[in-house]
Amino acid sequence: MTSQKANSAPAISPPSPCGPWMLYEYAVVASTNLVAANLGAWTAVRANTQTNGRGRFQRTWVSDVGGLWLSAVVPLIHNDVSRKVLPLAAGLAVCDGLHELGISGLRLRWPNDVLVEDRKLAGLLIDQFVPGLAVVGIGLNVTNQPESCDPLLANRTHRLVDLTTSPVELPNLTRLLLTHLRKVVIDLAQRGAPALLSRINKLWGVPRRVQLDLDGTIRTGTFTGVDPGGRLMLSEQAGGITLYEAHQVRHLTEIGALS
Ligand code: BTN
Repeated sequence: MTSQKANSAPAISPPSPCGPWMLYEYAVVASTNLVAANLGAWTAVRANTQTNGRGRFQRTWVSDVGGLWLSAVVPLIHNDVSRKVLPLAAGLAVCDGLHELGISGLRLRWPNDVLVEDRKLAGLLIDQFVPGLAVVGIGLNVTNQPESCDPLLANRTHRLVDLTTSPVELPNLTRLLLTHLRKVVIDLAQRGAPALLSRINKLWGVPRRVQLDLDGTIRTGTFTGVDPGGRLMLSEQAGGITLYEAHQVRHLTEIGALS
């Protein structure tokens, strides 16, 4: 479980219902995940910007104006496998929502990056601050310009506005993603991980050669999807399949697609 100090920035407006969710909106916070740390199930936090947007493994997440920086508190399923599948299920929910907007070419990069072609459109960060609840943090580039904050992001990110001709409004996008997130979380609780895994596995795209950085130790092989326990399946040269948990993999680099 993560322990962090919450943010006490003033809200833009009083919390308001967003379908079955209660939504808190801020102009600026350190991290929406940290604000959500103090909230109950089915509440969500959105901010126009984050001063300390957090990525996986303590990386910084560029959170400039125009992007969707959203954290949603969901009940944490007690079953261990479902809990491990939650990050993947959250990625599925984002893809479901974006498909509804007509976005094509979406795929997942394990464990929970959402890409179009080889560029990152969205990233997810799951935190657990208190027992029984998980915070699903979603960062989605919309009209913001991540590369102007960090030139290293040039040609490595996508923005939603460049992928659609329809107008993209943050309130509608917020509602859409929260709707799909709630649906997959309830599905996971009621029907279990196998109900979602075939849909999740379709989103990896073709089998890919990947390199895993296991905190210093490098492994290379072919990514063949996710097993029923939510673990990455890597086919290594010796022929066997090795399973990795999300927390073991510091970074996954795609080396190439196998057609
Ligand atoms: C990653 O790709 O490493 C995960 C990025 C997650 C970013 C989102 S933005 C909303 C929420 N608040 C944060 O501080 N991080 C997540």
